[in-house]
Formats: sequence, structure tokens, C-alpha cells
Amino acid sequence: MITGQRILDTFFPMLKGGKAAVPGPFGAGKTIVQQQIARWANADIVLYVGCGERGNELVEILQSFPELIDPYSGRSLMERTFLVANTSNMPVVAREASIYVGVSMAEYYRDQGYDVVMVADSTSRWAEALREVAGRLGQMPVEEGYPAYLASRLAAFYERAGSVETLAGKPGSVSLIGAVSPPGGDFSEPVTSHTKEIIRTFWALSKPLADARHYPAVSWLESFTDYSARAAQWWAENVSPKWSSRRQQALALLAEADELERIVNLVGPEALSSSQRWVLESAGLIKEAVLQQSALDPVDSYCSPQKQFQLLDLVLKFHDGGSHLIELGVPVEQLIELEFSGALKRLKSTVTNDDLTPLAEFEEKFEKVFSAIRIEHQGDREAVS
Ligand SMILES: Nc1ncnc2c1ncn2[C@@H]1O[C@H](COP(=O)(O)OP(=O)(O)OP(=O)(O)O)[C@@H](O)[C@H]1O
Ligand SMILES: [Mg+2]
Repeated sequence: MITGQRILDTFFPMLKGGKAAVPGPFGAGKTIVQQQIARWANADIVLYVGCGERGNELVEILQSFPELIDPYSGRSLMERTFLVANTSNMPVVAREASIYVGVSMAEYYRDQGYDVVMVADSTSRWAEALREVAGRLGQMPVEEGYPAYLASRLAAFYERAGSVETLAGKPGSVSLIGAVSPPGGDFSEPVTSHTKEIIRTFWALSKPLADARHYPAVSWLESFTDYSARAAQWWAENVSPKWSSRRQQALALLAEADELERIVNLVGPEALSSSQRWVLESAGLIKEAVLQQSALDPVDSYCSPQKQFQLLDLVLKFHDGGSHLIELGVPVEQLIELEFSGALKRLKSTVTNDDLTPLAEFEEKFEKVFSAIRIEHQGDREAVS
């Protein structure tokens, strides 16, 4: 499944017929992630279930979707979208039903051979509705007042995701993506922890990232996906055979940089070697040039798979080129002063999906500068010896 969001497609991909959760504390960007998926997912039908959340968010969809164009069919987005509304002011018993209405409609279209994506915002409000109804029925409360069947109800809902072959022999699928709003951002509370056991893709939103205005605030340390091996096949066939190795290289760089940042906080940047400083620099580039993606930017809101890969590949080529120079003894300061990074960070919103040639031109530019530095440096060394 392609959503046009780099952190989701490239780093934590999901397949059609898969199940995913977007947990995140208050204001971390759950609704925006769900809306971006509703806008740009390569599905035939999208079901947006507004479950116990704000009414104005649904109104916003009603107003904006008719004006947006589906990048796959070229027609109005509203033509493929269903809204199931049970906003926070509507009856709680109907809230329990809203999720089932959504998923039953999804199955109806799946059985006709369509790829359906259902996003539910938020499954926590749905669980709270279960709790309220169970309380009124006098059922015994268990963890945090939720009924004992919370886990099995959540599992029964997510298990309705899947791919099928219809009786007419066509492929169809239902993909389920649920937002989870744990109180206080505590992922160990019952709804988040039960959901985590059931789903296979976990896009964890992080408060510190959202506070730093790093959007989408999907944490690369806490998120996971079980589908990366299958997704790698698709990317290798359709985009590039290097996808899997580049993805792993980027994730390793990000993890190493987090470790290094801890050292810097303890003992200061002087403790780092040149190549470690270059790792920090490159991880910063990955975060700003690749991971950050504004939903409000008209160019960057949707990023095609080709652009996703080429952008990541470009940043990593820049990193590899710089690492090579550092091995030769070029001081890291000289590379940091080059001022390519500012331009690299802007490429995502200046280069459009249908013309990626500026990315190749950019690569030529820095390769030229890198090879000049190499020749100059080798000349200096020969002069010294
Ligand atoms: N991808 C993004 N691009 C730009 N801005 C974003 C992005 N994601 C989140 N934001 C900003 O974060 C704000 C809060 O996001 P959102 O309403 O999705 O959070 P939420 O997790 O759904 O919050 P709540 O728990 O209140 O429902 C948005 O209004 C927007 O300003
Ligand atoms: Mg929200």
C-alpha cells in the first residue's frame, strides 16, 4: 500500500489487507496522519470513521475532499470516500456501532473486488464507549474499568482486515488503520497494549518530535512493521533493487545518531571522532530532507514512490561520499561548511513528482565538488611527503 508519506512507505511499510495502528499522545498528529492516508492511499475506496472525535475535523474533510484530485484516477477524491460520523457529541451506543458500520461497508466493497482502506479515529473512544455501555449493563470492570472482553473485541475488529479472491475471481482487500489515543501518552495502558499485540504495523507518534515540530512525528525507534520483507519485493520490482539496503542503512544511521547524541549530551561534541560527527550531520539530513513532510505543502503532501527512493538515495550518496573523504583525512568541518545541506533539505518541496531530473543534477553538483576536494587533498599529501 502506498500512502505518499515517506516515513510510512519507505521506513514502516504496510501491505494492502494489512492492519496498522497509529498511537500517539494528545496533539501529536494522529488525525493528520489518518487524513493524509485517506487522501493519498492507492485504494479504490476509503472509509473514514470519525469515532468520538471532533466534528470540525469531519467537516474539514467534507469541504476539502471534493476539491482534491485523486492522484490515481484523476477524479475528485470525494467520489471514492465514505465518511462514517459519530463525533464526540453523538450518542455513545452509536459510537460502539460506528466501527462495525465502517468495517461492514468495507467488506461489502471488498467482496466486489475493490481495495478498501478504512481509517478509524479513534479506537480509544470506541473502547471508552464499550466501557460506558458495559458499566450501564452492570458488567464487571477489569483493567482501568474496561470490560473483560476488550482484548477480544479489538482482535475481532482488526481480524476483519485481509485480502481475498472474490467469487468472481477478482482480488479485493480491506486494510484497517486505527488511531489510538492513550491518556497521557502512556503506551502501556490497556487499549494500546492490546492493539499492539494484534496489529502488524505500528506507527508510534512521539511527543518530543511533535514538540520539536518534526512532522509527521512518527518515531523511528518505537515504530515497527512485519511487512518489510514483502514490501521489499514490490519496491525491488517497481522502484529499485537497492530499496531494502538503503532503508536499512538509513535506519542504522538514525539509531547510531541517537546513541551519539546521548554521548554529546554527557561529555560534549569534542568526544566524537570526525566520522561520528559526519554520522550526526547525515542523520540530521535524513530527518529534515526525508522524514519531515508537511501535510500542508502542496508539493510535498504526496510523495511518489520514485521520489521517495531517489530522495533517500541522494542523501545517502551524499553521506557515503563525505565518509569516503573523511577516511582520506579531509577534516569534517570542511564538509559541513559546503552548504549543500540547506539545498538538500529544500528539494522535497521544490522537486515535483513528475520531474525528478533536479535530483540527478544535484548529485552531479556535489560529486564534482567532492572529487575536487579529493584531488586537492591528495595533492597536499603528496606535497607534504
Ligand atoms: N504532517 C504534518 N504536517 C504539518 N503539520 C502537522 C502534521 N502533522 C501534525 N501537524 C500539526 O499538528 C497539529 C495537531 O495534529 P492532529 O490534530 O492530527 O493531532 P491529534 O494527535 O489528532 O490530536 P488529538 O489527540 O487532539 O486528536 C495539527 O493541527 C498540525 O498543525
Ligand atoms: Mg485527532
